[in-house]
Amino acid sequence: MIQRPIHLSHEFLAEVLDKDAVAVDATMGNGNDTAFLAGLAGQVYAFDVQELALVKTQERLASLGLTNVHLIHAGHEQVDQYVTRLRAAIFNLGYLPSADKSVITQPETTISALGKILDRLEVGGRVSIMIYYGHEGGEMEKDSVLAFVKQLDQTVFTAMLYQPLNQKNHPPFLVMIERLK
Ligand SMILES: C[S@@+](CC[C@H](N)C(=O)[O-])C[C@H]1O[C@@H](n2cnc3c(N)ncnc32)[C@H](O)[C@@H]1O
Repeated sequence: MIQRPIHLSHEFLAEVLDKDAVAVDATMGNGNDTAFLAGLAGQVYAFDVQELALVKTQERLASLGLTNVHLIHAGHEQVDQYVTRLRAAIFNLGYLPSADKSVITQPETTISALGKILDRLEVGGRVSIMIYYGHEGGEMEKDSVLAFVKQLDQTVFTAMLYQPLNQKNHPPFLVMIERLK
């Protein structure tokens, strides 16, 4: 069956992860992506501004016996204070359905975090960005992220889009970035 964007977001990162790799989950939420990264990478740094995300993610990691994660209660725009070099990162933009829906990722901080992550990405490293944009403010964030990614130097990064074309409403889509040099 054809891949859903969310599945491709993981496969794309899995191809470059191993136990020597540092990975970042920029939007921890319930910890689905954190747990996925922790199973493959050496160290994971996971960020969220909501305390509840850290509680939920800690529970999930404990149930899986995963101990290689730094849970950081701070915005992803502070990533440069924790991580100097990384192989992979994932963003799931928007809000966490099971938590406070007024806490959404914002264009300015998302792009600040993405820029810092790309600056610190190893050659061959990859970033997946799942863009959810059906909520208020989501369209603006989508446009800002796409505009930022489109202006990246093509000799340094390859950037690709994977998007459903015939689904109703606002189906989430995936932006994939790889560092070439
Ligand atoms: C769509 S959810 C993430 C879902 C998550 N990846 C999972 O597996 O459950 C978006 C998350 O981003 C968080 N968030 C909002 N602004 C943030 C920021 N500046 N830095 C880090 N996380 C942020 C929200 O609190 C929310 O938990």
